Amino acid sequence: MLSKLVTGLLCAAVLINTLVLNDAVVFRFTNVVCLSRNESWFVFHNCRLKAVRRDRVLLNINGTILHPADNISIHAQIFKKASGFKPWLVNAKVDGCRFMRRNYNPIIGIIFDLFQDFSNINHSCPFVGPQVVKDFYLRPDRLKLPFPTGDYMLSLIWIFDNRPQFDTNVTFSFIEDLLKSN
Ligand SMILES: *[C@@H]1O[C@H](CO)[C@@H](O)[C@H](O)[C@H]1NC(C)=O
Ligand SMILES: *[C@@H]1O[C@H](CO)[C@@H](O)[C@H](O)[C@H]1NC(C)=O
Ligand SMILES: *[C@@H]1O[C@H](CO)[C@@H](O)[C@H](O)[C@H]1NC(C)=O
Ligand SMILES: *[C@@H]1O[C@H](CO)[C@@H](O)[C@H](O)[C@H]1NC(C)=O
Ligand SMILES: *[C@@H]1O[C@H](CO)[C@@H](O)[C@H](O)[C@H]1NC(C)=O
Repeated sequence: MLSKLVTGLLCAAVLINTLVLNDAVVFRFTNVVCLSRNESWFVFHNCRLKAVRRDRVLLNINGTILHPADNISIHAQIFKKASGFKPWLVNAKVDGCRFMRRNYNPIIGIIFDLFQDFSNINHSCPFVGPQVVKDFYLRPDRLKLPFPTGDYMLSLIWIFDNRPQFDTNVTFSFIEDLLKSN
């Protein structure tokens, strides 16, 4: 669970960071892993990265929810690489249906804001049928979080009726533009 203190600090950081504009040169995916833990509820058809430029890597995920899901939670964790991936700041469980009614978690809001333009998941519960993330690439200008340069993993574990159904774990690099930030 994300403590109130961390949430407060992150909100402060978000405010500060919107004043000091984010000058990143590189913000790109480096790997993706998808796993269904219950193929009678969720199947993946596609889960891959495609590099189109040095600084742009597209993420495509295509899967199907086979039965309507209206009790969804998402366990979101961020890890930062430092001789192995270590937990870093975000470890939150979010009620997906509540979040879709009202964007109530600022951190998940930032993550959602990065990819919602590239997906069909911005709607209310229930969720059923094709779930698609298409040609999603990371845009540093959308990132209102102060990231130190490094390699990260965002793990999203999708839980229906209190049981984990599938994982989408992506790793990405964030490299600050040292020239511009001086
Ligand atoms: C995704 O990351 C989480 C957190 O590290 C891990 O528990 C889970 O096994 C990973 N899933 C896959 C498919 O690698
Ligand atoms: C797997 O999915 C089926 C079909 O929706 C569901 O009935 C079952 O409870 C799920 N099993 C687990 C362990 O989540
Ligand atoms: C997703 O996969 C399904 C099944 O393979 C396919 O019919 C559908 O066209 C794919 N959708 C996208 C947007 O790639
Ligand atoms: C979903 O999209 C609508 C506009 O299409 C937007 O107003 C709303 O804030 C979005 N939902 C979330 C949770 O961001
Ligand atoms: C979701 O399902 C679990 C297990 O069935 C239940 O304990 C929980 O109250 C449900 N949550 C909501 C918001 O309906």
